[in-house]
Amino acid sequence: MRRFIGLMSGTSVDAVDGALVEFEPRSDFHSHGAGLRTTAFASRPIRPALRDELEALQSPGADELARAALAANALSDTYAEVVADLLAASGCPATSIAAIGAHGQTVRHRPELGYTIQLLNPARLAEATGITVVCDLRAADVAAGGQGAPLAPAFHAQVFRHDGERRAVVNLGGIANVSLLPPGALADPVIGFDTGPANTLLDAWCRRHTGADFDRDGDWARGGQVDAALLAAWLAEPYFGLAPPKSTGRDLFNADWLDRTLARHPGATPPRDVQATLIELSAATVGRACRDFGAERVFVCGGGARNAFMMERLAAHCAPAPVASTQGLGIDPQAVEAAAFAWLAARRIDGLAGNLASVTGARGARVLGLLAEPRPRD
Ligand SMILES: Nc1ncnc2c1ncn2[C@@H]1O[C@H](COP(=O)(O)OP(=O)(O)OP(=O)(O)O)[C@@H](O)[C@H]1O
Ligand SMILES: [Mg+2]
Repeated sequence: MRRFIGLMSGTSVDAVDGALVEFEPRSDFHSHGAGLRTTAFASRPIRPALRDELEALQSPGADELARAALAANALSDTYAEVVADLLAASGCPATSIAAIGAHGQTVRHRPELGYTIQLLNPARLAEATGITVVCDLRAADVAAGGQGAPLAPAFHAQVFRHDGERRAVVNLGGIANVSLLPPGALADPVIGFDTGPANTLLDAWCRRHTGADFDRDGDWARGGQVDAALLAAWLAEPYFGLAPPKSTGRDLFNADWLDRTLARHPGATPPRDVQATLIELSAATVGRACRDFGAERVFVCGGGARNAFMMERLAAHCAPAPVASTQGLGIDPQAVEAAAFAWLAARRIDGLAGNLASVTGARGARVLGLLAEPRPRD
């Protein structure tokens, strides 16, 4: 049994999530949920000043290099605090952890230009924790012509694929991504892609109009009316019509996108109706991906799984396939993405591929990630 830690801070820029995962030895590794156990989960909010700076760094600005380095240091310190929380909660010593898989904070994602940037200072994290850090997990896939994203489908396929059922796994983070898992018995490849915005636009709009960081349980949106013309205008965004492989982020779906599309929309849609329409946009785009695949069951993870109204609208768009959180499959929906990065760290340490070329469009399977070691090996 080996232990790995996965650390994730996604496009919502809300928190650093961490999972401590125990894996069976490689030869015993089975799919369908067996072979790994999430022993501890921890989460620390990203402080407002750091969140503002990380969000500012998503667009061009002055003195970016130095500001990015300082933000990476500050974020790495929060990552180290989450590691300390996981070790305290589990009672495991740092020496028992084989490696940390650390995502970092995406501030630019332009695979078509050959780069994707996740801010992190891996040497600082390795120094603070005394644990080997695997970072820069997207770069090798991009170098091989892939999107570098989403990476979670390979993990979802490993733990959630079922022999007799077409399953879709949906991660409702800042951006929503789907993993479409044909029955394990079929040779069909796994497909996965970012469907478009989820919490990133909901959070931005909610913050602007209510002052709250997010719309708890979707209660604010629930009281709004969907503006059908606005929804249709949003659905005309070319990204939604692209065939996979495809990935996106705040480079496209940001407050500017919202303001631009609203400015072009005739009439003034009340803010609460805009929020309801944003929920509908996410539910419709995710639902379309699941239906097109013929999903028999849909499992949801990420912060959006806690949004009761989003889950209802998603169920309406995925019908007749039942929609439930990944809890029923044995993994806390909040921990799935962090656990995926623990799994990716294990793949790197074992010299195994971390990507699925059928998902990212890379030229082939690649070992993902660069290492930062805290000290020389004995
Ligand atoms: N109770 C809740 N009700 C509604 N929304 C919630 C609730 N709890 C969390 N959320 C939403 O979930 C978001 C965080 O989700 P999550 O951490 O999965 O996204 P992320 O950091 O973008 O991750 P990733 O990009 O890796 O998927 C919050 O910003 C918020 O919008
Ligand atoms: Mg998050």
